[in-house]
Amino acid sequence: MPGRVYEATGGRIFAAMYDSMSRKTEDAGLRALRHSLLTEAAGAVLEIGAGTGSNLAHYNGVESLVFTEPEPAMLRRLQKKAREEAPLAKILRAPAEDLPFEDDSFDTVVSTLVLCGVDDQVRSLREIKRVLRPGGRLLFLEHVRSDDAAMARFQDRMNWLNRLVVQCDCNRPTLTTIEATGFTVTELERTILPKAPKFARPLIVGSAG
Ligand SMILES: C[S@@+](CC[C@H](N)C(=O)[O-])C[C@H]1O[C@@H](n2cnc3c(N)ncnc32)[C@H](O)[C@@H]1O
Repeated sequence: MPGRVYEATGGRIFAAMYDSMSRKTEDAGLRALRHSLLTEAAGAVLEIGAGTGSNLAHYNGVESLVFTEPEPAMLRRLQKKAREEAPLAKILRAPAEDLPFEDDSFDTVVSTLVLCGVDDQVRSLREIKRVLRPGGRLLFLEHVRSDDAAMARFQDRMNWLNRLVVQCDCNRPTLTTIEATGFTVTELERTILPKAPKFARPLIVGSAG
């Protein structure tokens, strides 16, 4: 199958299966982690790579909500869910590497399970920094490369499978990249993605400004 056709088909299948595939993980603790992280969202909020809208229910009392998502099949699901759960939210098709907003537009940018799969992590983080106002915060929840060398090597070996099934890398040193792009991490919890395969478990949850 030519690459583009494969990607389009894979994208549709991934979007169609995402909520059912994630259900056990959500029930086993991911939903609670999302909720606790998103109580910190404030002011004008942008969520990147919003997928099917798993975070929608967790925003309370924010001034405005903008969601971006580059994949058409995900976007359709996000739009449908937002019509029901967050009708005032604005939804745009855009990749994190190229955010269609002015500098200093948001108080909070949210990234949950996105930086593992963007094409260019450094460019995405620079874009996030650009659109955040001075004093604004990035809230992140990301599965990452393990600090344990043996586990990190295991993640390297298993990454092909992770890419095949969930279309992202399980071995990215995302925390290092967040710091290398000029953010200061102000809160950090190292935990696990519940019910995930071992190679996709190491998880970081926190905020950076
Ligand atoms: C694992 S899903 C996570 C969805 C959602 N953020 C969540 O927490 O459930 C990864 C999402 O990132 C999106 N994505 C892929 N490449 C991206 C990019 N370059 N910029 C922004 N989002 C991207 C995918 O389309 C998908 O919706």
